[in-house]
Amino acid sequence: MLTLAIETSCDETSAAVIRDGREVLSNIISSQIEIHRKFGGVVPEVASRKHIENINQIVQEALDSANVTFKDIDLIGVTQGPGLVGALLIGISTAKALAYGLELPIVGVNHIEGHVCANYIDHKDLEPPFTCLIVSGGHTYLVQVNGYTDYEIVGRTRDDAAGEAFDKVARALGLPYPGGPVIDKLSQSGNKAAVDFPRVMLEPNSYDFSFSGLKTAVLNYLNQLKQKGEEIIVEDVAASFQQSVLDVLVEKSFRLAKERGMDKIVLAGGVAANQGLRTMMEERGKKEGIKIFYPSRVLCTDNAAMIGSAAYFNYMAGKLSDLYLNVEPNLDLI
Ligand code: KG4
Ligand code: ZN
Repeated sequence: MLTLAIETSCDETSAAVIRDGREVLSNIISSQIEIHRKFGGVVPEVASRKHIENINQIVQEALDSANVTFKDIDLIGVTQGPGLVGALLIGISTAKALAYGLELPIVGVNHIEGHVCANYIDHKDLEPPFTCLIVSGGHTYLVQVNGYTDYEIVGRTRDDAAGEAFDKVARALGLPYPGGPVIDKLSQSGNKAAVDFPRVMLEPNSYDFSFSGLKTAVLNYLNQLKQKGEEIIVEDVAASFQQSVLDVLVEKSFRLAKERGMDKIVLAGGVAANQGLRTMMEERGKKEGIKIFYPSRVLCTDNAAMIGSAAYFNYMAGKLSDLYLNVEPNLDLI
């Protein structure tokens, strides 16, 4: 079964052709990062305009590079939300026009679920149940995945998302957008014990997260050094900040996996690209007898292949949309 998938929820215009939910025939990603970088973040109106300019071409490229035509496609999948309303509308309108014109079924996909499904592409034998840590620029969830379309949210962020914290701290350090990859790289040469930033665990039994206090702690630390005229060692601040985030993410993920008797922890979302997170998870996993899964870097950040995978599994579960499908900018995971 071939799915043509479209993703336009933020600043990547992407289209992909996926076979049976797990095999990528093509995954074209046109990133707008360079355009938004000069503003220090994504400008929604600019993103929508760029999606309009690019989408038809990207869809055609996805077909060409998969060596198929519209006639070969069996299903249309598209990101329904969460995301920027104007950006989502471009993808949804394109997808509905294709579904109508080609008389194909259409599935509106939850973007966060897409991030989880990226793992099914890179790990052909991976099947639920597992514990999943979803960490992206807009969302942070600790989830028990009981089936391909069956999610139980156990924890979530109460303020900033993990990726958002990386981006905000990077900005304060004068580093370019998006901050995650830059902090990740700098951390590798920095001293993670240089500054003792807080690890916010919340109530003893809570699986929720909170990153805004950590962000404030970093900002206060930087201001104090500036006032005293002391040198800021960017690598050390980056490494210490990253370690504070990772300690909390790793601790809570393992606690949940053990509580639920899981032998698999799956990472998803842009922050799953973080080398420090991957290494720390794997080291702890070895000690605890828990196997760690994460997507290849290109499938961690936004892409249409993961949307195609999620569309397929929803279709198989009978969860179809119709041409009344509309954007849901504030869609939750369940
Ligand atoms: O999943 P994603 O592409 O978009 C959302 O759905 O939000 O995630 C983007 C986020 C950004 O905050 C970015 O800074 C972060 O993922 N990110 C990383 C890394 N690569 C991307 N954070 C930490 N380390 C990385 N290597
Ligand atoms: Zn995303």
